[in-house]
Amino acid sequence: MVRNVAELLPELEEQDFYLLSGVEQGMRFSEWVQREKLPKFASLTDEEVTYRLERCLKRGLIEKKTIQYEGYTLQFEGYDTLALRALVERDTISEFGSPLGVGKESDVYEVRSYKPLALKYHREGYTNFREVHKERDYTSDNEHVSWMYTARKAAEREHDILEDLYPDVAVPQPIDQNRHAIVMEKMDGVELSRTKLEADQVLGVLDLLISEIARAYETGYVHADMSEYNVFLDEDGVTIFDWPQAVPTDHENADEFLRRDLQNAVGYFRRKYPQQVSDELDSDAVAAEIASGSFETIRE
Ligand SMILES: Nc1ncnc2c1ncn2[C@@H]1O[C@H](COP(=O)(O)OP(=O)(O)OP(=O)(O)O)[C@@H](O)[C@H]1O
Ligand SMILES: [Mg+2]
Repeated sequence: MVRNVAELLPELEEQDFYLLSGVEQGMRFSEWVQREKLPKFASLTDEEVTYRLERCLKRGLIEKKTIQYEGYTLQFEGYDTLALRALVERDTISEFGSPLGVGKESDVYEVRSYKPLALKYHREGYTNFREVHKERDYTSDNEHVSWMYTARKAAEREHDILEDLYPDVAVPQPIDQNRHAIVMEKMDGVELSRTKLEADQVLGVLDLLISEIARAYETGYVHADMSEYNVFLDEDGVTIFDWPQAVPTDHENADEFLRRDLQNAVGYFRRKYPQQVSDELDSDAVAAEIASGSFETIRE
């Protein structure tokens, strides 16, 4: 698990950030940035680099290796620090709060500015990176910084998609993005998986969810990871989140993903509420209606 770096920010100094962004810049060329190159990348004197390396190592923001040459690389904590600091500098975030969720591929925290927000650090590539990292000889180049690249691309993608969907589709309002982090509106309510609906609410909620899936399709996207864990429910209705893997509707497999999303949504409701969701409700037929633009409602 990646440590929360928020409490570190106050004790870090301007030059610590220079050092971290120097390492980040060097990592565009190789995973392990040579010690000698750091003064240039970080715009710091040699003595200053030595002092800052010590401080950043001690805080677990960077890692050092000495095989073949002395080199440094960012830890995810160091990358988080750079992203968080950028978001604070431009006033997107003014207060840091508690964890909202730890997903397979992200860490989500409550943050604040003028209103409650959610900060999602993308971690795609993290597990892979750790596994590969253990076995690989440290000098091999390229593909190396793939965890940084993969996580940043996922964040950019999720932010772009939210911008396309909001406000026509019920998704969290996107606020800002930096490196592998996105900031969005904090959703009210709870995960659909943790709700127990009254019998007379079941079809209404399922219909709301399918309507949002249909609206997303009209706007140009299929979520492609639809489940009761990626939907929030409150008094105002449903919110669909977690969009980095979404595919555009002109993608060759879009309609297949749409069918699968509907199978997941309808399947979940059917398993949980067999009395309310009849066998007549055919998710593939609903998917076909959505794809052809003729979907209206599942209710009579
Ligand atoms: N905008 C938000 N407001 C409140 N809570 C949120 C928000 N975004 C995410 N969360 C919480 O964080 C958790 C993880 O978020 P999300 O599903 O986007 O990440 P993930 O790592 O991609 O998930 P997965 O485990 O599905 O791969 C969610 O289940 C939810 O509880
Ligand atoms: Mg999720």
